[in-house]
Amino acid sequence: MKTIDHYAVFGSPIKHSKSPRIHNLFATQTNQTLDYVAHEVNAEQFITAVTDFFAQGGKGLNCTVPLKELAWLNASHRTERAESAKAVNTLILQADGLILGDNTDGVGLVTDLIVNNSVELKNKRILILGAGGATRGILAPLLNEKPACITVANRTVSKAIQLPLEFNHRFQGCSFDQLDGQNFDVILNATSASLSDELPPLPQNLLTENGVCYDLAYGNKPTAFVRWGQLQNASKSLDGLGMLVEQAAEAFLLWRGVRPKTREIIELLNAERPL
Ligand code: ATR
Repeated sequence: MKTIDHYAVFGSPIKHSKSPRIHNLFATQTNQTLDYVAHEVNAEQFITAVTDFFAQGGKGLNCTVPLKELAWLNASHRTERAESAKAVNTLILQADGLILGDNTDGVGLVTDLIVNNSVELKNKRILILGAGGATRGILAPLLNEKPACITVANRTVSKAIQLPLEFNHRFQGCSFDQLDGQNFDVILNATSASLSDELPPLPQNLLTENGVCYDLAYGNKPTAFVRWGQLQNASKSLDGLGMLVEQAAEAFLLWRGVRPKTREIIELLNAERPL
C-alpha cells in the first residue's frame, strides 16, 4: 500500500495561513501524493511538536511567526542562507535522519521581484524598512543581486546600526529621521507595522521616479505601505503574496525535488482576493 508523505506548517496564529492551500495546489500540479496541514503551535510547544511530527513519519515542516528563530536554534544543521538569517522557515528530514534547517524567504522575495515583476535590483538603491527577523532573512539574497547600495532604517536605531556589523558592513543602518533628503529606487517594507495597518514615518520624495515599493506582508486589501507606494506614484506597489508562493515553491523543491510553476498559483490566489 502506498503511504502518503506528511508535511505541515507550525505557527501561531495559523488559522488564516495560505500555506496548506498553496502546497496542496503544488502537489496537484506536479502529481505528487502528499498531505500538508497547518498546526497551531506556540513557542512553548515547539520542541515537543517538532519531535512528535518527525517521530510520526513527517517529512518536512514549515515554521512561521513566532517560531523561525526557534527552528534555527533547534535544527540539526543549517544552510548558509539560514545561518545568515538566524531564522529557519523550512525543516527537511534527510536520509540520514538529521533535520536540515533552511530559509527560503529571501530567495522567494528576490524571485518575485525579478522574475514575476521584472524589478531590477542590480545597481539600484534599495531601502529596507525594519531591522527584525524578516529583514535578516532577505539581506543575503538581496546583497547577492549586487545593488548599488542597501540602507536599513529602523524605529529602534540601535538595531539598524548593529545589523551591518554582522554582514561585514556591506550596507548601512539609520533611523527614519535620517532618511530625510535621500531617495531610493526600491523600498521594501519588512516591518510588522502592516499587520496593524500602520506605516513607519516616511519623508516625502523618498522614492525615485519610476521607483518600486514592496511590502513583505500581504492581505486581502492593499496594506498601508502598498497604499503609501501608490500615493508616491510608484511604478509598482506590491504586497508579499508572490513572495509567499515563491518561498513555498523553494521549500517544495527541497522536499520533493520538483519546482512547481508558480505563476498560475499566484494568479489564482490573486483572483480569489475579495474586491
Ligand atoms: P519580524 O520577524 O516580522 O521581522 P520582528 O523581528 O519582531 O518581527 O521585527 C519587527 C520589525 O518591525 C522591527 O524592525 C520593528 O521595529 P523596532 O525594532 O523598533 O521594534 C518594526 N516595527 C513594528 N511595528 C512598527 C511600527 N508601527 N512602526 C515602525 N516599525 C515597526
